[in-house]
Amino acid sequence: MLFDFLKQIGRSSAPTDDGHPVEAAPTADDMLSRALLDPVEWIAHEHPQRPAGELVDIWAKIPGGFKWHHYFPVYEKIFGPLRGTPLKILEIGVYRGASLKLWRAYFHPDSRIVGIDIDTTCARYEDAANNIFVRIGSQADDAFLQAVVQEFGPFDLIIDDGSHRSAHMLASFNALFLTGLKPEGIYFVEDTHANFWASWMDSAVSFVDVAKHLVNHMHGHHSDTHKFYAFMLGDVRRQPVMSVPLITTLIDEIRFFDSIVVVYKKPKPTPPVVELLAT
Ligand SMILES: C[S@@+](CC[C@H](N)C(=O)[O-])C[C@H]1O[C@@H](n2cnc3c(N)ncnc32)[C@H](O)[C@@H]1O
Repeated sequence: MLFDFLKQIGRSSAPTDDGHPVEAAPTADDMLSRALLDPVEWIAHEHPQRPAGELVDIWAKIPGGFKWHHYFPVYEKIFGPLRGTPLKILEIGVYRGASLKLWRAYFHPDSRIVGIDIDTTCARYEDAANNIFVRIGSQADDAFLQAVVQEFGPFDLIIDDGSHRSAHMLASFNALFLTGLKPEGIYFVEDTHANFWASWMDSAVSFVDVAKHLVNHMHGHHSDTHKFYAFMLGDVRRQPVMSVPLITTLIDEIRFFDSIVVVYKKPKPTPPVVELLAT
């Protein structure tokens, strides 16, 4: 039956030496309709329109930075709701200090903005009078990151705009998500397209693939039917305790954009209880 299905979608492969066909395992694409995979031609714009919005207006006045146009609507969507309260923000990757100035102008004026960078010349972008601090070290150095968290954290928002190497993205996430981010903090990783560039992909599994896997962990309590029933009100199989990985209890939401991954942390002390409500 699988073979018929693969033949239908054109994925049955040539017979081996002994004459038996080798069945290629179906891929996720094989589960999508052909219509969704039809090729489409994209035509380059010679004069692309600048996105609108307050962040773009601020950015246009700050020298020394480069940002993809399509990031600005994402920033507005994710960061807009945070503007009302003072935040502790950590940004990995200072470069010429442009984004530190952008966040300074955009977020609540009492927010504290901390930038880290491996390049020692970035120290010049510290502006303590304006609550902007810079520390020098690597985003892959756990001891350095813990010292930054000790000094300034935990943070409401962590933005990784550093080396864009997959191994570094993972190292920083592992070092910061649990203890460097507040219980209801947001972890924002940009330029994740670099995970798709062979020369930047320096981990066995890419950060994006790990982020996709976090979706599985977010569903850790649904991962087998016995667990699912364990907390269900009134069910005879109901049990008072179930075991899940810590990460299952920490993730509220994961958002994927072109080149950006956002992980929302929020404690989930118990799984959702299923109760059928009579109307
Ligand atoms: C894309 S730039 C940051 C741009 C800045 N966020 C902005 O928008 O204005 C990347 C920065 O990451 C820094 N970087 C590279 N490797 C690093 C590492 N291992 N740890 C920390 N920073 C690193 C580079 O020195 C560079 O300044």
